[in-house]
Amino acid sequence: MGINILGMGSYLPEQVLTNNDFKKFVDTSDEWIKTRTGICSRHMAGWEPTWYMGRQAALKAVEKSGIDPKEIGLVITSTITSDFLTPSIASIIQHEIGAENAAAFDLSAACSGFVYAVDTAKRFMQTDDNLKYVLVIATEALSRFIDYSDRSTCILFGDGSAAAVLEKSDKLYSSFLASDGGGARKLFARNMQQAPEVRIERDFDDGFPEKPMHQLFQDGKEVYKFAVKALPKAFRAAAEKINITTSDIDWFIPHQANIRIIETAAKNLGIGMEKFVVTVDHHGNTSSASIPLALCEAIDKGDIKRGQKIALIGFGAGLTYGSVILEY
Ligand code: UT7
Repeated sequence: MGINILGMGSYLPEQVLTNNDFKKFVDTSDEWIKTRTGICSRHMAGWEPTWYMGRQAALKAVEKSGIDPKEIGLVITSTITSDFLTPSIASIIQHEIGAENAAAFDLSAACSGFVYAVDTAKRFMQTDDNLKYVLVIATEALSRFIDYSDRSTCILFGDGSAAAVLEKSDKLYSSFLASDGGGARKLFARNMQQAPEVRIERDFDDGFPEKPMHQLFQDGKEVYKFAVKALPKAFRAAAEKINITTSDIDWFIPHQANIRIIETAAKNLGIGMEKFVVTVDHHGNTSSASIPLALCEAIDKGDIKRGQKIALIGFGAGLTYGSVILEY
């Protein structure tokens, strides 16, 4: 069994920050950011909650699909930047869009989140004959979790959301999901602290570097080394399962973290950059929203056409990685 992407929608907040805007916060330059990352600008959530951005993308995806939201049986939201510890963003959006017959939950797999969510959706559909449509949303507002005094991370991230309505089909499909938790301390943001009233002091080092709550820490060099290996590995593992190679794929849509990572992966896989969808220049790194934002943009531009084979490849905190190969 495979899946069909019935329709997609996206949402980018209005506010745009250029590289030069970061000169207000840190010692940096447009030239450094462009050369080392490929990023020129990124969208920043202002007043928009993360769930609201996801709602806007979801409404567009449902409209494009031409379905009744009541026919959606499951809403999965991928996010690491939720407005709430609970409830899930998926539950909020489920109500907001009138998907009154859907189950709903959030999934946390960082920048691999959309790939994880699509594969989870597929597995749900495979085991539930009554599940007609699954709505998968990736919505992120990294700008709220950034240390604006850390020049090596604050310039990287952007905000945005994208969503897809999926249905069962007999189209080609393969996937590979993986995690290397040994790298958990290389990319993280703390979420919890004990209330002083009940805290019991204890000398305990959890091995995570010091960083204030809700601020992203990244060991850029280490994550870079991981990413350039994980990207080709994830694709090959999914491709081998269905006995296909790079030449069978029309479009590669990798996580948009750094143009140098994408170029190195293209080289490692022995394919030209013309097969890669690149949006990192105007989106920055939007974590799990980056792949569906790129996919949606390429579909809307008419670059990706029905019947073409695409490979979605994610990597990120966890350290997670994975790939989904499907036919559009
Ligand atoms: O989405 C999750 C996955 N994340 C990723 O894939 C990110 C992976 N990592 C990267 O993309 C890169 O490691 C970065 C873009 C984060 C950093 O690039 P780099 O080429 O690894 O730079 P670096 O950290 O080695 O820094 C080189 C120099 C340093 O100066 P010195 O020590 O050589 O004097 C940095 O202080 O560049 C300096 N630097 C900057 N200079 C101007 C770091 N950030 C900046 C900046 N502007 N924004």
